[in-house]
Order: sequence, then structure tokens, then C-alpha cells
Amino acid sequence: MANNKRFIQSLKSQPTDRIPYWYMRQAGRYLPEYLQCRKTAGSFLDLCYNPDFATEVSLQPLRRYDMDAAIVFSDILVIPHALGQSLDFKTGEGPILAPVDDKAKINRLSLTNLHQHLAPVYETIARLHRQIPATTALIGFAGAPWTVASYMVGGRGSPDQAAARTMAYREEALFQQLIDLLVTATSEYLINQVKYGADVIQIFDTWAGNLPDDQFRRWAIEPVRQIIENIRICYPDVPIISFPRGAGCRYPEYIGATGVTAVSVDTTMPLEWVRDHIQPLCPVQGNLDPLLLLTGGERLDRRVREILCLCCLKDGPFIFNLGHGIVPGTPPENVARVSEIIREYQLK
Ligand code: CP3
Repeated sequence: MANNKRFIQSLKSQPTDRIPYWYMRQAGRYLPEYLQCRKTAGSFLDLCYNPDFATEVSLQPLRRYDMDAAIVFSDILVIPHALGQSLDFKTGEGPILAPVDDKAKINRLSLTNLHQHLAPVYETIARLHRQIPATTALIGFAGAPWTVASYMVGGRGSPDQAAARTMAYREEALFQQLIDLLVTATSEYLINQVKYGADVIQIFDTWAGNLPDDQFRRWAIEPVRQIIENIRICYPDVPIISFPRGAGCRYPEYIGATGVTAVSVDTTMPLEWVRDHIQPLCPVQGNLDPLLLLTGGERLDRRVREILCLCCLKDGPFIFNLGHGIVPGTPPENVARVSEIIREYQLK
């Protein structure tokens, strides 16, 4: 069947009339209309688990910037929450979880209520599927097991994921048990997202880059490989993008070993290297610095054009995105400006 979604065409390495674009964390705190909804909803989790609000905030960035893809509004931490771990988002502090750092706590996690707990996310996807324009793709997502486990074991975000990395060395079998549970939960969650109407899946492995080589293979590559294998049993053709942030020169190995359709590349990746070593392997998405999107001006325009030129030189398809998520305080007009430059850029 011919696909009228530019974003999907690009992911399938088919020619497109212009470069598709969307932005990681495109819904959220930089938008006044999001802040208004969050206030009305009460808390961040109330927003995630209420399909009326979640649908509305997923659509807000599309109304402003008409991206080629919408991403369902939720969070990577709904999985630990659905497994029974307590979770709270305190304003200005980020997520706080009751750490699962021993065998008894890990054994208490359970798949029993997974889908019942996540039903509002499925409902939001079903509504978005009906409401977004026919040419816009719908992205479903989850965190990769390593990144999610790092929050579960540490109880909060940390710059080095020391709690999870220590557990992975000291109690390897126990950590493997946690990762295996996350592989099962995440596979089922993503399969259901496709069932309810997601066209594309994105896996966020925000903290993959902090893993040493052997640990990267074991905790970043292997669980994602298994999830992709599980999804493809049910949906062989669904495009799957992964974002192993900080993977560096390990991107090619990651792509080969996981079987992912496309990768999101982070801000640190040199464009020429991406063009020469990643684009020949699969479609690439990236990699504007979110802080340049925040600061704006002539420098932003220049960099957007540089990314567009370099990443389109070779045969490999390209999707314009950021190298990490939009940060709070980003002026909405800068996002509009970048979108305008991409739309005007002609493929040669
Ligand atoms: O617009 C979208 O991209 C869809 C929604 C989305 C959110 N989180 C909403 C959110 C997505 C895709 C995520 C992914 C996510 N969540 C990641 C991976 C991507 C990345 O940015 O690295 C991670 C590590 C998390 C965990 C998380 N959630 C943190 C660390 C925080 C606090 C700080 C932050 O990044 O905002 C959250 C809260 C969160 N998730 C907010 C939003 C809009 C802010 C909540 C608020 O205060 O209103």
C-alpha cells in the first residue's frame, strides 16, 4: 500500500518531497498551552493518564508547527509505575521513585496489572490515530530497559547511573531479572501501542552512553534487540527508531545487532561521521542542539542549514530532529523558525 506519510516514507528509505521533521519532547513545558493544561489536570501523572488531556497536549505542537509526526503524550516511567513501583513528579525535581534496590523489592514488581494501568495510554493513541491528519505519522514510545532500570534502581535521575551500574556488577543475576521483566513489559506495551494505532515506535535509551563496552552490549544492545524481535513477530513492518544517546562510534554495531529501522543521533555526533558511517546503514534522525534552539538567532539558522546540507548529501534518508529533547524556556518562535527553514529547504 502506498504510504502518504512523509515520515514513514523516509523510514522506509523511499524518496520524499522534502525532509520530514519532528522534535523530541515536542509537547511540554516550553508551550504556554501545555502549562495551562498541566495546571488544570493537577499533576503530571494526571495529565498522562487522562486521555482528554493527553490527546490535547499531543496535538498542541502540531497546531503550531505542523510536524510530520505526533508523539503520544506519556512518559517512559509509566512502565515502572504499572509494575507497582511508586512514582511522583515533583515540580523542579524530576521523577522520584521508591528505589527497587534489592531482591525482595524486585520480586514484588508484577505484570498482573500492566495493561489495565496503561489502558489510558492506549485510549489516547486510539484517539490520536483518529484525529491527526492522514499525512501525519503517530509515534508510540517507551524507554529502553537500561534507562528505565537506572531510574528504578536509583529512585531518581543521576548523572552517572551509579546505583544501577553498581547493581549490574554486584548482583548481575538480580539485575538481569529486572531487565528481563522490563523486556517483557516493554514489548507487550509497544505491541499494544501499534495495535491501537501507532505507526512508528521510538525507544529512548537516554543513558546508554554511560555504559562501558561489555556492559553496553549486555544492557543496551541485547534487551533492545529482544524487544524489536518481539514486536516484529506481531508487526514485521512497523518502523522502529532507537535513540541510544551517547553511543558514539558504537552506533554501527548497535544498528547491526538490534535490527532497528532507524536511529536518532545525539548532539555530539559529527555530521560527516554520521553521513559516512551511519546513513549507509539506516535512516538517521537528528541532531540539532536543544540549547541552540533555546538561544536562537542567526547562529541557529546557520546550524539548521548545515545539518540539512550535510545529512542529505548521500543516499541515506534523513529526518530532521534534535540531538536530545526540547528544554523548558525554549521560545516557541524559535521552533517555528526551524520548522520554516526545513520546509523551505529543497531536496536536490
Ligand atoms: O513530547 C514528547 O516527547 C512526549 C512526551 C514525553 C515526556 N517524556 C513528557 C514529559 C517523552 C517522549 C518523554 C521521555 C522521557 N521521560 C525520557 C527520554 C527522553 C529524554 O528526554 O531523555 C526520560 C529520561 C524521561 C524521564 C523524565 N520525565 C524526566 C527525567 C522528567 C523530568 C525532567 C524533564 O525532562 O522534563 C520527566 C518529566 C516529563 N516528561 C515532563 C514532560 C512534558 C515535564 C513534566 C512537567 O513538569 O510538566
